[in-house]
Parts: sequence; C-alpha cells; structure tokens
Amino acid sequence: MGEPARPHLVVLSGSGISAESGIQTFRASDGLWADHPIEEVATPEAWRRDPERVLHFYNLRRDQVRRARPNAAHKALAALEKQGFRVSIITQNIDDLHERAGSRDVLHLHGEILKARSTVDRRMQYRLPRGGIALGDICDKGSQLRPDVVWFGESVPHFGDACEIVAEADLLLVVGTSLAVMPAASLLDYAPLDTPCLLVDPEAESLAPPGVTRLAQPAGKGVPQLVRHWKRERRLW
Ligand code: APR
Repeated sequence: MGEPARPHLVVLSGSGISAESGIQTFRASDGLWADHPIEEVATPEAWRRDPERVLHFYNLRRDQVRRARPNAAHKALAALEKQGFRVSIITQNIDDLHERAGSRDVLHLHGEILKARSTVDRRMQYRLPRGGIALGDICDKGSQLRPDVVWFGESVPHFGDACEIVAEADLLLVVGTSLAVMPAASLLDYAPLDTPCLLVDPEAESLAPPGVTRLAQPAGKGVPQLVRHWKRERRLW
C-alpha cells in the first residue's frame, strides 16, 4: 500500500497578504494606483513613452520589498508545508515574502520585482540581489533590461500552469485580493466544482463570489487561525 495522499492546499494570494508587512495594496483609496496611475507606470505604452519613470517606480518598490519582512500569514502557510501538507502558492504579488517565509512551491503570476529581464527575450532573466535597473543596463544580447513583471495589457505566461495547479486542489484558499484583475480572478473557475473555496480578506463579505466561504479578517489573523485548525485536524476543512 502506498502512503495516503497528502492534503493539497492551493493558495491564491494578492497584495492584501503583504499589507501587514508594510507593502501597499493597489485599489484602496490610499493604494498604490491612487498616486501612480497605471497608464503612467505599468503598461507597455508607459515604458515606450518614459522608461526612466517606469524604472524609477519599480526601483522604489524594490527597495520597499527588500525592507519588508514576512508576516504571520506567510509564515503560517510555510509552517503548514513543513507539517507535511502539500501547499502550492499562486501569487499575484511580485514580492518574495512567501519564499522568505519558507514556502517552496510558489508561482508568481505577475512576475518578480527582484528579477530583471531582457526587453527582447523574456527568458533572459537576471536576479537583482541589490540595487535597481538603470537606463543603459543591458542583457547579454545588448538590449535594455526591464523589471520582470507583467504589465497591464501583457500576457500572463504562467496562467496555464496556474490553472493546472488549481484543478488539483483539495481546498482553494484565496487571500487578500479584490479579484478585480483577469485572468487571475478567473482561476477560481478552474477548481473542480466540489472543491471548497475560502476567501480571507477584511472585505470578504462584499468580494466573495457565490459559493465561496468568507472569513472577513486581516490575513495575519485569519490565515494562522485556519492553519492551526488544519494542523490539529490533520486535514483541510
Ligand atoms: N489582509 C488581507 N487582505 C487585506 C488586508 C489584510 N491585512 N488589507 C487589505 N486587504 C485586501 C483588500 O480588502 C483588497 O481586497 O487586499 C485586497 C487588495 O486588493 P487590490 O488592491 O485590488 O490588489 P490585488 O487584488 O492584489 O491586485 C491584483 O492587480 O494591480 C494589479 O498586478 C497588480 O497583482 C496586482 C493585481
């Protein structure tokens, strides 16, 4: 007889999971997009118009990410994995807080701010352990480097992989996202119909689509609470 299958938790996280680490969310009245209009910093057109401004915006955000530390929600998910659960994280976040908390299976749907990539070849990626990207910084083919993030209007290269992961979930945990952005928000539709889905977000009551269980709490409180329960029960749900 083989070992019993490990319970598989699939997490879809958004900027709200990093809010208690001091990283701004996007769509709140004091969110990031309020001061930095999307069309000026996060589209291919913005890059063509004023690459220096775009680089500056991401250089500042990169410094903020480096200063931030994983919070209780990131840590609880990593601890659940250590406990023997299978935990796959699909994050819309470009920070590395899930990894720094110890999670090993993390897919970044919208890229990673701590990486640069070539403007001509998506596969030419470079880690940025320190510093930022300047105009004139080039890839091995001689083209300008840009942040390795997905801008509005660009394709989401790992979306197919994310759909496959969601399709294998025993439970889908959505944390800290307004579910306003496609195709990320549509991932909920790729879970098998009988897969329970839970949303942890202070605004869960108004955000959760039909059939999704709501936990209207900040991630740093709600996620550790769920994880404690799952560890005690040795199963999800
Ligand atoms: N814990 C959990 N959730 C929180 C917390 C918290 N402490 N604080 C705020 N939130 C929730 C808000 O209630 C909101 O629902 O986080 C969510 C943030 O939503 P958005 O600002 O829309 O950010 P997000 O859903 O991550 O955006 C998705 O859009 O702007 C693009 O590419 C960007 O990845 C981003 C994507």
